[in-house]
Parts: sequence; C-alpha cells; structure tokens
Amino acid sequence: MDRIELGGSGVSITRVVFGAMATRDNSRERQRENLHAALEAGVTAIDTAPLYDFGVSERLVGEETAGRRDAVQILTKVGLRWDGNHGRVLFRGPGTDGVMRTVRCDSRPLAVRRDVEESLARLGTDVLDLVQVHRPDEDTPIADTMGELLRLRQEGKLRAIGVSNYSAEQVRLAQHALGEVRLASHQLHYSLLERSAERELGALAAQLGHRILAYSPLERGLLGGREPERAPRDLRDALATLRATAARCDISPAQAALAWLLAQPRVGGVIVGAGTPEQARDAAGAGAIALEPADLAALDRAFAGVRAPHRSRPGLARRALRKLRRVGTRARGLLR
Ligand SMILES: NC(=O)c1ccc[n+]([C@@H]2O[C@H](COP(=O)([O-])OP(=O)(O)OC[C@H]3O[C@@H](n4cnc5c(N)ncnc54)[C@H](OP(=O)(O)O)[C@@H]3O)[C@@H](O)[C@H]2O)c1
Repeated sequence: MDRIELGGSGVSITRVVFGAMATRDNSRERQRENLHAALEAGVTAIDTAPLYDFGVSERLVGEETAGRRDAVQILTKVGLRWDGNHGRVLFRGPGTDGVMRTVRCDSRPLAVRRDVEESLARLGTDVLDLVQVHRPDEDTPIADTMGELLRLRQEGKLRAIGVSNYSAEQVRLAQHALGEVRLASHQLHYSLLERSAERELGALAAQLGHRILAYSPLERGLLGGREPERAPRDLRDALATLRATAARCDISPAQAALAWLLAQPRVGGVIVGAGTPEQARDAAGAGAIALEPADLAALDRAFAGVRAPHRSRPGLARRALRKLRRVGTRARGLLR
C-alpha cells in the first residue's frame, strides 16, 4: 500500500484512509469489523472526529487501536461542539442514542484545547497524529485557532495541523498564522462527481505544499458500482464508463474511482467510509493501483460536467428559490 507524508509534517499515512464516521449500518459491531478489515488489509490511517456519533467514533477507534497505537495514524478534528451556547449553529440532530443535540462552530482557543484534551481521553492516547479544524468558524480569527494548535503541538499533544472545508482565502490565512510550520493537509469533498475544489484549492496546495485529503470519494456509494434507482442520462452514461474501465483493468468500480482520485495532483489520501468488511478490503486495494493515462482520461471525459443528483447546482438553486418564494409570501402576508 502506497504511503505519503502530510505536508512536511513527518506524519506518513497510507493513501487509503479508513473513514470512521458511521455509515448506513450504524451498529458498533459492524463498525469494529470494518475497521479491523481495513487494518488487516494494510490501511494504517484512520479519520475520525469528536462529532462522529458525538464521541462514539473516537472511543471505538481508541478501543480498536489499543496496543497498536504506534502502528496507526489517528487523524481527528476540532471546532464543532454541542455542549454550550457559543458559536453559530451548524445543525441539530440525534446520535445513535437518539438524543438531539445542537452542533455549533467553535474554534476559539479554549474550545480547540478542550476538543484536543477530550479527543486524547476518548482515543486513549497521548498524541494525535493530525488535528484538522472541521469547519471554518466565521466568528473566531483563524490566527487565534492556529496559535492554540501550535501551542498544543509544542506541548506534544499533536503532530500535524490540518484544516477541512476551508476556502482558499481561509487556507492562506491559516498558513500565514502557522508561519514556519507547514499546514499538513486540507480535507475536502472531492470525487469524480464533485470537482469544485480542483482548480483554486488544488493550485493553492501545490503552492503551499500541503496535501489534499478527499472525503466522500465514492459519493456515499454512488460510485461503488451499483445502478442508481433514478439518475439523469449523463450520470448513467458516466457510471457505465466507470464500470467498463474497472472491468477492463480487472478492478472494482470503487477501486477505479479511488485510483482516479489518487492520481490527481496534490491528493494525499482518500477517506473511504466502508459499509462492510468486504468494502473495506476492496477500498484498501485501491492504494496500490495506478491507472493508465488513457483510463484516467476516459474517466475525466465521462464525468466532465456530470453532477451527483442530490448535489446538482440547479437543484439547489431551485430549492433556494422555492424557499425564498415561501418566505416572500409569508412576509407579504405579515405586511398586509
Ligand atoms: N470533513 C468533513 O466535513 C467530512 C464530511 C463527510 C465525510 N468525511 C470523512 O470521509 C469519510 C467517508 O465519507 P462518506 O462515508 O460520506 O463517503 P464515501 O466514502 O464516499 O461513501 C461511503 C459509502 O460508499 C460505499 N462503499 C464504500 N466502499 C465501497 C466499496 N469498496 N465498493 C462499493 N461501495 C463502497 C458504501 O455505500 P453502500 O452502503 O451504499 O454500499 C459506503 O457506505 C467519513 O467516514 C469521514 O471520515 C469528512
């Protein structure tokens, strides 16, 4: 399995990373089996977050990696909390325990420090390999957040600093605040079907030297090979090309989609959420696959301009317009 160093940090990860956010089958037993299968197949990097099932994912990763901590890399996150009133609300939702929680963006230094301390405790370790700011916090200066992460790094509590879902400008500010210490990684949504990050953020990663970690690389299963129930013609055609390319290369469609991503400039790793142990093993196999230039080009052509149905911009725009109309109607009613 290929490995890569994250932006001059000294932290080396496998290029296929196990995504420890709960998938459709939320049972803990299944999550454990998936993680074991990935580790046995040679994956050593695990991406988790305090947010994933509100601490459950980190605890599970801690339990399953106990006794082999030196053989794995734990990538976790800071900046989203559900225990206070500070910060903008990101969403409200239940964990697998059914309890509703309100999640807020909070990357203030004291919150980030608390996040790191709590993650260390849940994961049962004394150092985190990579700590990523989960989402930008518009109310906290990025320099304050990075300053605290640098202090935590000096204290030996984390090895490398990354960000997630940041804009290009926010990445620049983060790197500026880190000074001599290089930003290690930028985790963002990137797949054959979601390529908005490619131009600006890819060029920025080349300029600053950090690695891109691609999340939801299989579009939550859409690129895993199964026929979608309802999909526009261009998407069906693109998925048919993915299956045909995979068959020609004697690999699975998921492996073809992951190998395509791993061949993109500055992509350090793909973070895959396996739903079964078989899927975990299959995804791990992508870490050793290099597609031929002709196959990469065929996939590029097939997916150019095609969007996942649930994320299509026109769809989003239509929904936003409908919402605006509803608000407008209500407002007119109130004014009358
Ligand atoms: N930073 C962030 O804001 C953020 C956001 C989202 C996710 N993430 C990270 O990214 C990870 C992955 O994200 P994700 O679960 O949303 O997306 P994903 O990896 O694109 O999709 C996971 C789904 O793909 C299918 N799959 C996985 N391996 C397969 C294989 N070998 N063959 C066929 N199908 C396969 C399964 O779907 P079926 O069950 O339908 O077969 C699985 O549930 C998360 O665990 C998390 O660590 C980060």
